[in-house]
Amino acid sequence: MLQQVLRRPLLAIADSERMEGLVRRNAKGLVNRFVAGEDLETAVAAVRGIVEQRMTTTLDQLGENVSTEAEARAAVATYITILRRLAAEGLEPNISIKLTMLGLDLGEEIATANASEVLATVQELGGFVRIDMEGSAYTAGTVSITESLHARFPGTVGTVIQSYLRRSEADVERLIAAKIRVRLVKGAYAEPGEIAFRDRKEVDQSYVRLMRRLLDAGVFPAIATHDPALIQEARDYVRRQGVRSDQFEFQMLYGVRRDAQKELSGAGFGMRIYVPYGTEWYPYFTRRIAERPANAVFVLRQFVGR
Ligand code: FDA
Repeated sequence: MLQQVLRRPLLAIADSERMEGLVRRNAKGLVNRFVAGEDLETAVAAVRGIVEQRMTTTLDQLGENVSTEAEARAAVATYITILRRLAAEGLEPNISIKLTMLGLDLGEEIATANASEVLATVQELGGFVRIDMEGSAYTAGTVSITESLHARFPGTVGTVIQSYLRRSEADVERLIAAKIRVRLVKGAYAEPGEIAFRDRKEVDQSYVRLMRRLLDAGVFPAIATHDPALIQEARDYVRRQGVRSDQFEFQMLYGVRRDAQKELSGAGFGMRIYVPYGTEWYPYFTRRIAERPANAVFVLRQFVGR
């Protein structure tokens, strides 16, 4: 309840330069818990540590909307560097990308052409790209671009569906029909009630419906949540339906519920950790803080203490 009430104001407060400066100067310890480092070197070391614990990873170079073609081209080059580096280290070339970093604000053609270049490298290396889902202005574009990329580079690309969006049931059916891999999440952005469920119970009920549908008919769905009740629901459902543990995986964020990550992996389930890194960590970090009032209180205490 508290989480629901606080999430919007926290996201609004976070969206100020003054707040960003304060957090950058004072909350480094907490940032390090959620962000694997600022450079690729540190991120690769984090990936290796997770793989040694018999879990898998998807690496995310943090960053969001770009407004010029040059910046979008730079993001293509960065993604390709990351993929080649992972492969050279003998690690799985699996990354999560954002289409706004590849120029989605400049037009769908530009973002598609840029993503195609990344996917050509992924295909060559035998890796996988997950296209993260951003705010609702980008949902339709992200789904249709994923479809067109999947048609050209089958099996190398998937996307994300947010259970808080009312449109998600239709999108899930569309992605199932196209045999595209889906990561199911609750959704991390502040969306209006006309298009999104605002009540936590409704978001969870939607999650369960979509999860069951994906486990029944989807291609290797990813159940991405830290919610103990939803994880138990998934475990009960796969047991009842006879879904094998090599037919889906769980996913969690770096630094969140580390014990649960180990427990699920120890119980024989696929557990993929989303590993974010880079200097542009502020928006990602504030979304994680807004999800958990205890984290926000921790940050505020540090400021008050000074
Ligand atoms: P919920 O927020 O209800 O949390 C359940 C419990 O988990 C909490 O009670 C707490 O114990 C623990 N927990 C959750 N967040 C925590 C935190 N920050 N710190 C400490 N404990 C925490 N969203 C999106 O819109 N687009 C995307 O592409 C993605 N991608 C993505 C990938 C992966 C692998 C994951 C796990 C999540 C995403 N998300 C996302 C984020 C997602 O939409 C959602 O905001 C978070 O996962 C939090 O929701 P939960 O399902 O974990 O439940």
